[in-house]
Amino acid sequence: MFNALEMAPPDPILGITEAFKKDPNPGKINLSIGVYRDAKGATPVLESVKRAEERILATEKTKNYVSPNSGTVEYCAAVQELIFGAGHEVLASKRAATAHTPGGTGALRVAGDFIKEVLGGKRVWMSEPTWPNHPSIFQASGLELGTYPYYDAVHKTLDFEPMLDALKKVPAGDYVLLHGCCHNPTGMDPTPDQWKAIADVSAKQGWIPLFDFAYQGLADGLREDAEGLSAFLGQGRELFICSSFSKNFGLYNERVGALTVVGESEVAAEKALSHLKRVIRTNYSNPPAHGSSIVTTVLNDAELRALWEGEVEAMRDRIAGMRQLFVDTLRAKGVLQDFSFLTKQKGMFSFSGLTKEQVARLRDVYAIYIVSSGRINVAGMTEENMNPLCKAIAEVLSN
Ligand code: LMR
Repeated sequence: MFNALEMAPPDPILGITEAFKKDPNPGKINLSIGVYRDAKGATPVLESVKRAEERILATEKTKNYVSPNSGTVEYCAAVQELIFGAGHEVLASKRAATAHTPGGTGALRVAGDFIKEVLGGKRVWMSEPTWPNHPSIFQASGLELGTYPYYDAVHKTLDFEPMLDALKKVPAGDYVLLHGCCHNPTGMDPTPDQWKAIADVSAKQGWIPLFDFAYQGLADGLREDAEGLSAFLGQGRELFICSSFSKNFGLYNERVGALTVVGESEVAAEKALSHLKRVIRTNYSNPPAHGSSIVTTVLNDAELRALWEGEVEAMRDRIAGMRQLFVDTLRAKGVLQDFSFLTKQKGMFSFSGLTKEQVARLRDVYAIYIVSSGRINVAGMTEENMNPLCKAIAEVLSN
């Protein structure tokens, strides 16, 4: 029966890294998957994480199941404090409930299943473009998909008015996926005023916001990056937040994330959590503990937390530096197109504007791997690979 199957297409992001690994070219460059690299091109374990792991190794007494299966009280409290900020009204009123999930993808899938099975939701609207896994996840949950305009490819900016117009037509009770910060794939985020306008439309229309908050800390700062979310929280709305610690803790392969739901009261949040536990039980039963122990240890220890916040800041600064160097180097290589829009974008990703054909040529001729949409991972650039990278792009653009 397996032989009767057609081969499945490779994943548009993971498949590129698989191809990259097989490429024997010693000068190959991977700007596809959203993984941070330091100035040497490595993805090291953060110092704060290493120290937390040493402590965990020395004190851990059991590998018993995580209980409850929605995550430990300590982890869920630490996640909420990071999302909302200490002393926030949502924390004081206890109207949020958090479930520990395997990564941000796990959070999105648990949210999708909960929306479909428990809340009877019908449809999720997502930005055009969005992370290619978003539609696949919500489709797998049995939800219908809709899209709203997001990016103006001509002016390399947010397509704000058309976006808002589309959101004004989303029916009450539908769900709208919003990227909390560092929009994936465009790197274009709404301004605080634009966030406020989106929140106003949501309140008026009655659609429910579902935040993918996978990059907290990588745009402007841990608190600053929650600005979009705050616009909705200020209105006392019910909403969903999917967090990931893959990027800001560098815990990619530990699969640690969280789904937080914000309800109208503590009782409402407790009810929601009781259902999330059931959704999790029938999916992966219990979350993996190691990554969450690291996150809890770091966030709850003043010294480790300060160290981690410094490490997040260093990642953010290096990415911003690479954006500028990329723009400058392209210009130095004689590229006439203006790439300065890249310095206005946030987080790891940018929409380069490179066409599918140019992306294919970069891969086939120069062993430079980019997602076919033209999305580039700026965090994969280094001072060392910048010259060959920009030289190749200049050549491809001039052909
Ligand atoms: C990305 O968009 O490259 C990251 O979110 C990693 C992934 O899982 O696709």
